[in-house]
Amino acid sequence: MTGQAPLSYRFGEYTSKVAFFPSIDTKRLSGDSGTLLVFDKNTAGIPDSSQPALKVVLPPGERSKSWVGTQRILREALSAGLGRDGLIVGIGGGMICDLAAFSASLFMRGCRLFLVPTSLLAMVDAAVGGKTAINFRGYKNMVGTFYPAEQIWIAVSALRYLPEREFRSGLGEVIKTALLGDPVLFEILLNRRELVLARDSAIMEELVRRCVEVKARIVEEDLRESGERAFLNLGHTFAHALEMETKYRLWSHGQAVAWGLVQAAMLSETLGLADPSYTAAVQSLIRSYGFDLQPGRKPESVVAAMQVDKKKRRGKLRLVLQRGIGDTVVREVDPLLIVEMLSRSARIFP
Ligand code: GLY
Repeated sequence: MTGQAPLSYRFGEYTSKVAFFPSIDTKRLSGDSGTLLVFDKNTAGIPDSSQPALKVVLPPGERSKSWVGTQRILREALSAGLGRDGLIVGIGGGMICDLAAFSASLFMRGCRLFLVPTSLLAMVDAAVGGKTAINFRGYKNMVGTFYPAEQIWIAVSALRYLPEREFRSGLGEVIKTALLGDPVLFEILLNRRELVLARDSAIMEELVRRCVEVKARIVEEDLRESGERAFLNLGHTFAHALEMETKYRLWSHGQAVAWGLVQAAMLSETLGLADPSYTAAVQSLIRSYGFDLQPGRKPESVVAAMQVDKKKRRGKLRLVLQRGIGDTVVREVDPLLIVEMLSRSARIFP
């Protein structure tokens, strides 16, 4: 499938092209003097050392996703003489994609932007759809803009080098995407698990393409999240609360999302939205990938953390729930009902 014509999406006034390659040839990016490549230390080894490219290499990890990281990129862009037609290229995982995109959206009120996601999470989520962000005062992604990349270059061969924890984290988002809108993807995850876990290139490319397609179709309808884009937060209100409660140390984002997807399904069933067979199918898929379903935190503390999540509106808990695959709704839910459901869930998954 690699080498096919790029996929093209219209996000508001922006067009994003998504192209798949066997490997990323950064020479094609760095020839132009008006280009600044942004890496973290894990991805900085990618280009050929003979490249004259201007580059900035940031320390890996969430701390770079800050004003300090932003300033480093903006400073380099300025001293490199980039104009408004200059190109910033983010090459890395979700952190680099969000940060490079945020910086590009600010430089000269918006310069050109390409993204080269190298983690599964960035390929299926962070690089696509135009959300940019930095963390602010301890809150993740609290400050940001909507600024879709002009081009997104994906080489699933990069996934071979991804640490297991990060790969699994990406799989949490892949499962979420399947539930949101792709029953075939659900079947692939169910029936081809060994190939998926072995990161087989053909399977990974199919997975990533399908996820890009589902996400992009949702964002095409609603770039600025005034409606259906919120569906992409399926499992995330639970996940963010758990991540916050465990100080972002114990749970990777996607692992927390996988746990959150099971909670969302159970809550959907409790509210009479989903059939028990749907909840059972979601649980069984997620368990088959070895995700931990025991949060190790009191339901009351998780729900308290849900109530400070920035995505709540007017003080109420609004959750993304489902009747089935591709049938998603947003509902306001009584926090006490969630405490009760989480207690039940903790008893089911010892
Ligand atoms: N990661 C959620 C979104 O892009 O809306």
